[in-house]
Order: sequence, then C-alpha cells, then structure tokens
Amino acid sequence: MFKKINILGIETSCDDTAIGIINLILDKKKIKETKILSSLVINQNKLHKKYGGIVPEIAARAHLENIDYCMIEALKEANIKLKDIELICVTSGPGLIGGLITGVSYAKGLSYYNSKKLIGVNHLSAHVLSPRIKNKINFPYLTLLISGGHCQFIIVKDENSFERIGGTLDDAPGETFDKIGKVLNLGFPGGPEIEKLAKKGNPEKFNFPRPLSKINDCNMSFSGLKTAVRNKFNEMLQIEKNISIDTKKDICASFQKSVIDILEIKTKIAMQIFEKKYKKEKKVLSIVGGVAANYQIRKVFDKLCNEKNFKFYVPPAEICTDNGVMIAY
Ligand code: KG4
Ligand code: ZN
Repeated sequence: MFKKINILGIETSCDDTAIGIINLILDKKKIKETKILSSLVINQNKLHKKYGGIVPEIAARAHLENIDYCMIEALKEANIKLKDIELICVTSGPGLIGGLITGVSYAKGLSYYNSKKLIGVNHLSAHVLSPRIKNKINFPYLTLLISGGHCQFIIVKDENSFERIGGTLDDAPGETFDKIGKVLNLGFPGGPEIEKLAKKGNPEKFNFPRPLSKINDCNMSFSGLKTAVRNKFNEMLQIEKNISIDTKKDICASFQKSVIDILEIKTKIAMQIFEKKYKKEKKVLSIVGGVAANYQIRKVFDKLCNEKNFKFYVPPAEICTDNGVMIAY
C-alpha cells in the first residue's frame, strides 16, 4: 500500500531563511519517490556584506522578518494549502542560536495552531542525506560535508546512523573562502566570487600550504592556509600598492587549488578507511554542503571517484547550499 504525504521543511540555522515542501510516496516506511513541490530561499547577503561575515543578531532578526513571507510563497509555488501538509520539520541544531530560536518558535506555533506533527531535524544529517533526494543511493556510503560552518567525513549507515571518521581541526572551508573574500574585498559570501576569479587566474602562481597533508588520517586544517593567503596579500600590497585584478585572480586560483588538494588528499584516506570497513562492490562517495556547489571541486571529485572506482554523487548547487527541501526530506 502506497502512501503520499506532503512535508514542510524550515531552515533558519545560518543566514538563509528557507522553506521547502516535498511530496513523499511511501511504501510501508520506505521512500519510493520524492517530489520537490517548492523551494524558497531568502538570502541575507546584502545585510551582512558590509561586515564581511554573518552577524548573528542581524541574521536572527532578518529571519523573523522574512519567514512568514517565505512560507506564503512556498505554499503558493507548491500550489497547496497549509491543511494539505501532514508534517512540519525544522532545523533544531546545530547553528546560530538566534536563527534556530526564530525557526523553531515559528514551527512550534504553526504546528500547535494547525494541529500538525512537528519534528526537529539535525542540520548536518539533512546535508549528508541530501544526495538521496534525487538519486537512489544504498547505505552505507561515504560523504564529505563541506560548508560554511562544517567540514567532516561521514559514513552514512542509514537515515539515523552516522559515523564521523575525520574533519577539520579549526576552520571550515566555506568560512575560509569567506574570510579570504573579505581580505580581497570581493563581497559576501566569498566562495562564489573566489570561484569566478579563480577561473581566470594561475593556480601555480603562489605556493600556499596544504596543512596536515603528510599526516595519515582524515583530519584537516584551513586556519594556517587562511593566514598564509592574508600574509601574501599584505606582501603584494607592499609591491603593488593597489592589488591588481590579475593578482587577485592568481591568489584566488592558487588558494582554491590548495583547498582542493587538501580535500583530495584526505578523501583518498577516507576512501581507504571506507573500503576496509565495507568490502562493497558498489562504493559511493558524495560531497554535500555549500562548498560542494563549486564547479572545480565537483570536477576534481568526479575524476577522483572514477580513478578509485567509487560512484560519485553531488546534489544540484541549490540543494548543496542551505535549503528547506533537505530539512523536509
Ligand atoms: O551549506 P551552506 O549554505 O551553509 C552552512 O551550512 O554553512 O554553506 C555556505 C558556504 C559559504 O561559506 C559559501 O562561501 C560557500 O558555502 N560556497 C562556496 C560556493 N558557493 C557557496 N564556496 C566555494 N565555491 C562556491 N561556488
Ligand atoms: Zn548548511
């Protein structure tokens, strides 16, 4: 017996106010099919731009201003009414506390007033399960979560069971992209801007460090890389006075190459760990989170998976960055 349900997902853990609505077709408790009915994301880039990073208090207030509008538009786009929603899901952590309080309070009100069931969702589990929204991927699979706040290798054993086998010891890669973007005065968030400039730069121009690359585990570090790029920028400033756009392009390309090398070196180790644990024929690696929207990173991982006999999955860019669909799913 198949059952169809509509699920609403609310995401406010960082700087995107996002609501997604999905329709699940269930066969007993197993998901047969997932349809995305709507996905609304209101970003706050303009508000945080002048600070070069997210200001938690501003983010929380902006969520409060945007959330009702986001909800109304998401229902419109899905062409359904609130009464057609069976279940409400909301990110309950981890994240910025002000944003989480806004989202969870809104979801509780919605649930209580309309007598709908409510589930709190872990933001990281939503990211690591997101490749399954559009693809049939069997458990267990290996994931690299790379976002603004997180960086970790996770073996996804099933919907509720995750094993972390390594991760960053300091900054997350997205945070590093954003801070370098601030140094280079590229606006916020820095990730997409750096990717654009890197395309036209020389990745071999500056030899930035690849921290922990000689250590045989899956842990990473980006903080020293960030400092090295900042130091190089200050050094170039002495020479050029005004840093030329060509130098910025080379810095971006060389920095991005370092990040990719670190991720690639450590992913090879994570793959070995996964292979030792699971002697599976069909091995899968997925990359998820905002930084996985980077085309150059996707390309390198596609090639790596081909070489290592892993099947590669990455969600579309709009499911990599924060969204309500993955929370509903
Ligand atoms: O997953 P996400 O939306 O939020 C968190 O959970 O952190 O990730 C946001 C991060 C930001 O740091 C942003 O700069 C980065 O993802 N990002 C990118 C790209 N698009 C977004 N980093 C590199 N290249 C991109 N194209
Ligand atoms: Zn996220």
